[in-house]
Amino acid sequence: MKQFVRLLVASTFLLFSFTFAQTQGVHLSWNDKDETSTKMAITWWGSKLNEGMVMYGTDDRLSHSQKAISHFSYKGKVNIYKATLTQLKPNTIYYYKCGSAEEGWSNVYRFRTAPATGSQDKFVVGVWGDTQDNEFNTHFEQTDTIVQQLQRYPIQFTIHMGDIVNAGPVAAKWEGFFRCAQPVNAIAPFMHVPGNHDVSNNAADSGFQKPFPVYYEFINLPGRAINYSFNYGNTHFVAVNSGQSEKDAAVATNFAYAKRSLEYRWLEDDLSKARKDKNIKWIILYLHHPLYSFGWSQVDGWHERLAPLLDKYKVDLCLAGHRHVYERHTAIRNDQMLPQKDDHIYQHPAGTVYITNGSAGGQPTGTGGSDMPSMVYTSKVKMYNFAIMMIEGNSIRYDVYDNHGVKIDYFKLIK
Ligand SMILES: [Fe+2]
Repeated sequence: MKQFVRLLVASTFLLFSFTFAQTQGVHLSWNDKDETSTKMAITWWGSKLNEGMVMYGTDDRLSHSQKAISHFSYKGKVNIYKATLTQLKPNTIYYYKCGSAEEGWSNVYRFRTAPATGSQDKFVVGVWGDTQDNEFNTHFEQTDTIVQQLQRYPIQFTIHMGDIVNAGPVAAKWEGFFRCAQPVNAIAPFMHVPGNHDVSNNAADSGFQKPFPVYYEFINLPGRAINYSFNYGNTHFVAVNSGQSEKDAAVATNFAYAKRSLEYRWLEDDLSKARKDKNIKWIILYLHHPLYSFGWSQVDGWHERLAPLLDKYKVDLCLAGHRHVYERHTAIRNDQMLPQKDDHIYQHPAGTVYITNGSAGGQPTGTGGSDMPSMVYTSKVKMYNFAIMMIEGNSIRYDVYDNHGVKIDYFKLIK
C-alpha cells in the first residue's frame, strides 16, 4: 500500500511538472557581431503571455535578471520571448534559466562567453547542416541522434549551413527543430544560415530568397539574420544567405549577391576589414550551397558570384551543406586546385579549403563523386554526419563523424 501511495505521489508530481513545464525551444545566439564576449541572446516560447525573464549569474544563485520582450506568434500559437544579456565578462561561465513563475522555468543551463577578440586560445565549434525533417526524419529523429553526439564535445557554439527545416513557412516545423535541438542550443549559441527550404523560392515573390515571416519570429541573429558576421577569438565567421536553388536562380533577375548589389558590397567590405584586422588570423565563411561540389549540387550562379571574393580576400575555409554528403576538396584559388603532400594536412595553403558537410538529419541523397579532380575525400556510403572543429592559434583541426560517433575523416589546416 505504501508503495502504491509513493507511486501515486510520484506520478502526480510528474504530471504536475509536465503541465507546468511550458518553457520550450530554448536557444542561445549572438545578435551583435562584435559582442560575443560580453552579450548573449536567449530565445524560447511558452503557451501563456507572461513577463518572461532570464535569471542568470556566474554561480547557481542566479542573482541577476533580465526581462524578455515577447510577442504572440499567430502561426505558431505560442508566445515567443527574446532577451539579451549584456555587460557579461569575457571567457566566463554563466548559469541561467528562463521562463516565469506563472508558467514555469526551464532547466538551469550554462554557457561560456567568448574570449576577447584576438585570443589565440583553443575553442571548439560544432558544425552541422540540413537538419530538415524529410523522409526518415519526419519527427527529427535522425537529427536527435546528431544532437546526442554533439553533446559529447565541449562546443562553445555551433554553425549550421541551412535547410534547418523542410517547410520554412510552417511554424510547427521550427518548433519541432528547436525542441529537438534544445539540449545543444541551450548551451551553445546556434549560428546558422538559411537554406533553400528555409526561404521563399518563388522568383516572382518580393520576398524571393528571403526567409518566411515565421523564421524571424523564432530567430534572434544580428540584423535581419540572413547575412551577418561575428568574431570569436582569432577567427572571423561570415554567414552568407545562399538560400534559393539553382532552378530558381536560373529564372530570377533579382539575385542576391549579384555584383554591386547591396549584399555583394556588404560582403566585400566585411571580408576586406577582417583581412586587415590584426586580431583576426582565420576567416571562415559558411553558406548553404557549395561553391565547389560534385554533381547537381554545384550551383554555378553562386560559384560565379562568390568565389572571386573568397579568392581576393583569402578566405581560409568555406563550409556548405545542401548536398547530403560529406565532401572535402584541395585548397582552390582562381579555380585552380592546389595539390598537397599529405591528404590530411593543408600546410599554408594559398587558397580556400572547400567542404560540404550535410546532412544532420535530412535524408542522405548520394555518396559524392570521386571523379572531380579537386576531391580529396568523399563518403563511400550514405550517412548522416556532423563535424567538430577545434581552432587554436595557427591551426584548425576538423573531425567529421557519422551519427553513431564513428570518425569518417579529419584534416588540419595550418598557417
Ligand atoms: Fe538545400
